[in-house]
Amino acid sequence: MIMISRDTIDTIISSTRIEEVIGDFVTLRRRGANVIGLCPFHNEKTPSFTVSPTKGIYKCFGCGKAGNAVNFLMEHEHFTYPEALRYLANKYQIEIEEEAQTPEMQQELSERESLYNLNQFARDFYEKTLHETEEGKAIGLSYLKERGVRDDIIRKFQLGYNPSTWDAFTKYALDNGYKLDYLVKSGLTLQKDNRAYDRFHSRIIFPIHTASGRVVGFGGRILTTEKNRPKYVNSPDSDVYNKSKSLYGIFFARNAIASKDTCFLVEGYTDVISLNQAGIENVVASSGTSLTQDQIRMIRRYTKNITILYDGDPAGIKASFRGIDMIVEEGMNVKIVLFPEGEDPDSYSRDHHPAEVQEFIANAADNFILFKTHLLLKETEGDPIKKAVLIKEIVNTIGLIPDGITRTLYIKECAVLMNVPEQVLMNEVRKILRNKIKKTFPELKKPEGIGWTEDQTAPFQETYDIASDEYQEREIIRILLLYGDDVLPLTRKNDDDEEEAYTVKVAEFAVLDILHDELTFENPVYAAVFAEYVKAHQEKRIPDRNEFISHNDPDIAHTAVDLVFTPYELSINWKKNNIHVNVEENRMKELVFTAILSFKSKKLDKIITAKLKEMQESSDPKDQELLLNELKNLKDSSIVVNRELGRIITR
Ligand code: CTP
Ligand code: MN
Repeated sequence: MIMISRDTIDTIISSTRIEEVIGDFVTLRRRGANVIGLCPFHNEKTPSFTVSPTKGIYKCFGCGKAGNAVNFLMEHEHFTYPEALRYLANKYQIEIEEEAQTPEMQQELSERESLYNLNQFARDFYEKTLHETEEGKAIGLSYLKERGVRDDIIRKFQLGYNPSTWDAFTKYALDNGYKLDYLVKSGLTLQKDNRAYDRFHSRIIFPIHTASGRVVGFGGRILTTEKNRPKYVNSPDSDVYNKSKSLYGIFFARNAIASKDTCFLVEGYTDVISLNQAGIENVVASSGTSLTQDQIRMIRRYTKNITILYDGDPAGIKASFRGIDMIVEEGMNVKIVLFPEGEDPDSYSRDHHPAEVQEFIANAADNFILFKTHLLLKETEGDPIKKAVLIKEIVNTIGLIPDGITRTLYIKECAVLMNVPEQVLMNEVRKILRNKIKKTFPELKKPEGIGWTEDQTAPFQETYDIASDEYQEREIIRILLLYGDDVLPLTRKNDDDEEEAYTVKVAEFAVLDILHDELTFENPVYAAVFAEYVKAHQEKRIPDRNEFISHNDPDIAHTAVDLVFTPYELSINWKKNNIHVNVEENRMKELVFTAILSFKSKKLDKIITAKLKEMQESSDPKDQELLLNELKNLKDSSIVVNRELGRIITR
């Protein structure tokens, strides 16, 4: 690890004026000691976003976002911590001193720095050649113009041209003091029989950037139709470039991906370019290969939604299903757009008006799982064996979805599409999840009291003791772990007695509600987890479920794993009453309210039973009267709780 030195960080932090940093993105005006503006993190009409120059912090009194200048850049620009520091260093002209622990690291550091420099130097050379030399203009630029690429797009993507002379770039770089050793390491120069020549000669150049905008490699497209030369050549992997970890266009797409909350994924350089020209900026290319986990995670820094744009070739699409499963497994929502036969995003954008392109993509986008079901379903007509395979195939994909609610939604939809009972799919999914747990945690024992069914045909069995509150406690913990950080849309009466909407995090709501009624957990593991939520609540944060999954206490870790992996279960109440789960936005509210109310109802029952027993055993009339009074209050509460519960589950 090479790090920015502590001294540099201190210099950066002390030179940073938060109002200047934020002022580059938000219009601020002075109010007293502070400056205020419209919050960039949520929609508002009156400014509640406040920056304190003296304290060096910002806080939005509308949405609660707060932090210092570095936090702001990480939140607003989606920078990583080092990226934010580099940005500030650049803004305040601070030279970054990097720290390497050993001489080898120092060596590596300066090598990497040299490669970055060299790539930037090459980019400038190619760009200059394209725009300013006779050959560049006559061959390179005219090719791009012929393809209809606009000037602003050529400039934006820093496209270039490498002359046809065998060693034009290599020679120029050597003349400028770059060492041959580095030219070869970067892949810009090839060496053969003591001759050094340009890898990209007579090609259009597409610079490849990191997310923070550094040039690390290039793609070069041939202009002629020579048969014996490949259409594209690309930079080889180097100390600064790793093909499987980079995405073409990410630097230019980053902000648009975050603000549109979707990332379009295409195959090639020209698709990215043409879509940008059609006004679609949230697009990146995998450069002809299927996505890697690193690339998926890079996208997930900005959005959880990914839309894959395909040229219409069913065989190619089917071949890519496995790769897409990996995206599903990362918890992303995947959509598919199929272009008409023979068209790719590039050709389609060239033949259609930008508005038409945007409309086509919006209308053609189909959810991946449903798309896959439809496509495979077409092949199974009247063939029960094929259908069984299809069910397995779809269930495999659904089983990868990390979130239980989403899984249930797909189980429901796909059951209808495939015309199989929901329960069958549900059982299949359970089997897969069970195997997954076994594989990941071989030491994990079958959880007590939970109706795991190994046999796919056996109906789901409830094995809870009806008098026990195990189920209700478990459901609260499950909700905290799975949905603690989700928002709950609620309403309340304001001072003028009008209903107003507000939101609160699920964990916050549940913790406060349960604390308020002074209810406790009997199961020691659940009690421990809940206690951590209470502690976190006091620290104004919501624990990440991973804190529990990798908890020091193995009981807590096992329980967390189990709860997080457990497929969606209908609560006893829902099952008993044969109530359908609502699939609308109210689901979260319903889920949380039902769980809390069931928990309360059960706890009240238990307290009432205990008090009754106490009263029967007591011989002191004074005590009995006191207990009777308590019992009356408890009964009243119980009635209220159960009425509330009834309202939800019979709606
Ligand atoms: N590709 C590559 N090497 C090749 C062919 C393709 O690296 N020999 C990668 C490139 O990233 C390319 C992508 O695969 O952009 C898609 O290939 P293709 O559709 O053939 O190229 P286009 O980008 O569509 O180029 P054009 O429209 O100019 O034919
Ligand atoms: Mn193409």
